[in-house]
Amino acid sequence: MDLFEKIAKRPGPLGQHADRSHGYYMFPKLEGPIGPHMKFMGKERLVWSLNNYLGLANHPEVLKADAEGAAKFGMAYPMGARMMSGNSDYHEELESELAKFIGKEDVILMNYGYQGMVSAIDCLVDRHDVIVYDAESHACIVDGVRLHQGKRFVYTHNNMESLEKQLERATRMVGETGGAILVITEGVFGMSGVQGNLKGIVELKKKFNFRLFVDDAHGIGTMGKTGAGTGEEQGVMDQIDIYFGTFAKSFAGIGGFIGSSKNIVDFLRYNTRSQIFAKSLPMPMVIGALKRLELIRTHPELKDNLWRIVHALQNGLKEAGFNIGITSSPVTPVILSGSIPEATALTHDLRENYGIFCSIVVYPVIPKGMIILRIIPTAVHTLEDVTQTIQAFKEVKEKLTAGKYNVDEIVKMM
Ligand SMILES: Cc1ncc(COP(=O)(O)O)c(C=O)c1O
Repeated sequence: MDLFEKIAKRPGPLGQHADRSHGYYMFPKLEGPIGPHMKFMGKERLVWSLNNYLGLANHPEVLKADAEGAAKFGMAYPMGARMMSGNSDYHEELESELAKFIGKEDVILMNYGYQGMVSAIDCLVDRHDVIVYDAESHACIVDGVRLHQGKRFVYTHNNMESLEKQLERATRMVGETGGAILVITEGVFGMSGVQGNLKGIVELKKKFNFRLFVDDAHGIGTMGKTGAGTGEEQGVMDQIDIYFGTFAKSFAGIGGFIGSSKNIVDFLRYNTRSQIFAKSLPMPMVIGALKRLELIRTHPELKDNLWRIVHALQNGLKEAGFNIGITSSPVTPVILSGSIPEATALTHDLRENYGIFCSIVVYPVIPKGMIILRIIPTAVHTLEDVTQTIQAFKEVKEKLTAGKYNVDEIVKMM
């Protein structure tokens, strides 16, 4: 069989919907300056689907730093991987400032968050070691674990009894192989908004010998007193042995970083394949990230504004009878029941008749019959945006319950 013919018959779980959804539900184009009000298909919409948590994407000082960095260095500089020819004082300054911010001895920059995580996992363990990881881990953790040549054990999401069981198995296993154990979880789970039970995990360090790696993509900048992340929030930052943050969310940039002790970061510098064999972050990104970090550290009101909107939105939704799960972070899932066609009709109605643009999650990402509207509040939303959204959600929920988004009903109305 020809490979291309085979692929044409098997577009993949998301690709199978491309005919109907490309450009609208998938690969939509949001236009205009990044913020809560952007254009979609020519009309202004109230946008709740960008991880621009602190509103930095369109901050005047950020735009200025990005533009100055690009004017001075262009996008090409520096050429090559960090190890060969792509290092600079700015890269090292950013690493040292980030290390101070998260309270770790040292930091290494990653030129993409996802690749950085995958490659760091691959780099940290060998075939004698065992990885124990949360069942609802992000794709970058799952893919990093896939590269691992030794044993891996998954524990039930955030369930400490299950983790303990897997740690017992892992401990027996490394007793035979002479390896070590790495536990991996997330600070904030990006779909549900639930925090990883970092406190519970570090408690198990009293009983088991393992190192903890936390992907805090959604926690950096949003969680903890200073915004240093979910470890700070739960008072266990010093017990997180390896900490990952991305620039793609609160920092409104691209790239990421990993913080740890000096010797582990040095080990990562000389062994992480995605960094050794790939070009380093362009200078404007690095200069821009330094500015973003400075703003996060010196303007706590950015995070305060975010949480003002988070509280108004989450309390308002709960008071209106919505199920928002057990989020304890800005990520706000609105959980409804319905079929995939109902979910798409509801989303269409929200976008076209209420001007509200949010992301929608359906089967196979979540169980059949469940619909999640995923709302990401930011520091630049207003309380009016919140009120408008809750009212719209009440109306579409009523229509959903009354069967108005049922395909037969829609056909009757046409
Ligand atoms: C939990 C988590 N880890 C890692 C990533 C990847 O980060 P980046 O977008 O910087 O590649 C994401 C982004 O979606 C994420 O949500």
